[in-house]
Amino acid sequence: MTEFCDVLIVGSGVSGLSFALKAAAFSSVTLITKKNSADTATNLAQGGVAAVLSVEDSVEAHINDTLVSGDGLCDVDIVRIVTTEGPDRVRELMELGVRFQRGRDGEEFDLGMEGGHSTRRVAHASDLTGREIERALLAQVAANTNIRVLENHLAIDLLMESKASRRGKGGKEGDRCLGAYVLDRQTGEVEVYYAGVTVLCTGGCGKVYLYTTNPDIATGDGVVMAYRAGAKVANLEFVQFHPTCFFNREVKNFLISEAVRGEGGVLINRQGHPFMKKYDARGDLATRDAVARGIDAEMKATGDDCVFLDISHKPADFLRERFPNIYATCRQYGVDLTQVPIPVVPAAHYMCGGVLVDEWGCSSITNLLALGETACTGLHGANRLASNSLLEAVVFAHRAVHWLREHIVAIRQLPALAVDPWRAGGAEVLDESILVTHNWNQLRQLMWDYVGIVRRQKRLDLIQNRLTFMLTEIKEHFFDYLLTPDLVELRNLAVLADLIVQSASLRKESRGLHYIVDYPEKNDRDFLRDTILQRPVPGR
Ligand code: SIN
Repeated sequence: MTEFCDVLIVGSGVSGLSFALKAAAFSSVTLITKKNSADTATNLAQGGVAAVLSVEDSVEAHINDTLVSGDGLCDVDIVRIVTTEGPDRVRELMELGVRFQRGRDGEEFDLGMEGGHSTRRVAHASDLTGREIERALLAQVAANTNIRVLENHLAIDLLMESKASRRGKGGKEGDRCLGAYVLDRQTGEVEVYYAGVTVLCTGGCGKVYLYTTNPDIATGDGVVMAYRAGAKVANLEFVQFHPTCFFNREVKNFLISEAVRGEGGVLINRQGHPFMKKYDARGDLATRDAVARGIDAEMKATGDDCVFLDISHKPADFLRERFPNIYATCRQYGVDLTQVPIPVVPAAHYMCGGVLVDEWGCSSITNLLALGETACTGLHGANRLASNSLLEAVVFAHRAVHWLREHIVAIRQLPALAVDPWRAGGAEVLDESILVTHNWNQLRQLMWDYVGIVRRQKRLDLIQNRLTFMLTEIKEHFFDYLLTPDLVELRNLAVLADLIVQSASLRKESRGLHYIVDYPEKNDRDFLRDTILQRPVPGR
């Protein structure tokens, strides 16, 4: 099957939905999402959207906090753009039906506090902010006849002009994206979707690690597809570990929002002693890189398998109202946070790097855009400031639509080119899932053990060798067997792991989220720059 549209959006989180709603005013939009529309990282976001929404706050203060957190690598112009334009975008979300919590005394917002912020700045909907945003945007999208939403459609690879016109294997400067090969999970068929503009909004890559706060869809698909097509990707060594994921073997991925520390939660060890001040003078509200490292060090020093977050000193009614979701989930697993501390561990949470884009969300490939966690805009630098991600998503979705409006007429006039249909060749049905699950489990364990919060060059070298072997094996599977979603995701995860390791090996200093014991100091002279990777000649 072959489809045509002006805009193909891959992913249904806040950036994909925001972009779709605005672009649909003047273009035909197809939005594909690999599971159900609400299976997104946005849907799990608890904290909220950071923006200057109170007279006591200022853009300068938000800029400063973002730069401090980013540890020297933020793009100051981008930080200014996002913090300045952010408040209007938050109010637009309200116009679209998002119900942020109002202040107790009737203020427009009940602003929350989180680590690294110098003031209360986070607009939230109790501890279900992402779910509320996703709900409102999905309702708007469903009511819009210019947007076609296809669930259970997984993008496999991008269609490139260089291949369609037989100009070579791709990766040339000025190559143009023509859409994507898409696997329909229900029929098992690979379809060809042509689009004037393709927008990657596939979220992050938490599933490359054993423990993560991310949903199952977070397999780095957008970054890897863009990289394979020859786009520049940047700063993939900066994987953010959220300090406080619920420690319970039965619960997958449950985050304990940073807002809990913002409201006075204290990290303690099993003996009940607060420990964060030992590791950082800012204590429990230090930036995330510092808190995750502090917890890691405390766990190693004590030999314990978790630490605890204690907020039980706050009034129970306040806690139940402010954190209804966290309260109910912890309670379900036997932890009443109004009475006892919550067991927590750090877990992979956010990819600060991604597809390198300009101030309009455009990648180094013509007519290929990337938004949200998939993109590296320059906002986050070496460590994202808490709750700046939803903000970046809505600001860049808006800017990318502005770019589209300026270019859509010219894009529609570009010559139509045809790519070959997907070649299944003599591929057979993969009847032993163990081939995929074994590699998947091994990869996630290896990344956790070798490329976690604290790194060492020797471990990076060891994993690089194993990844080379694994990548060869996966490549064989990919073309010997009929495609399954698991195989597509495994291939993406393995390539992404390799890119993270390559990036980490190139940065011979410690900065932000990248801490490597062989180079414990920051080295501004040699490394005050992005780590950029680009595949010279993409192919399969
Ligand atoms: C949280 O609620 O702690 C997560 C928010 C974020 O990652 O910015």
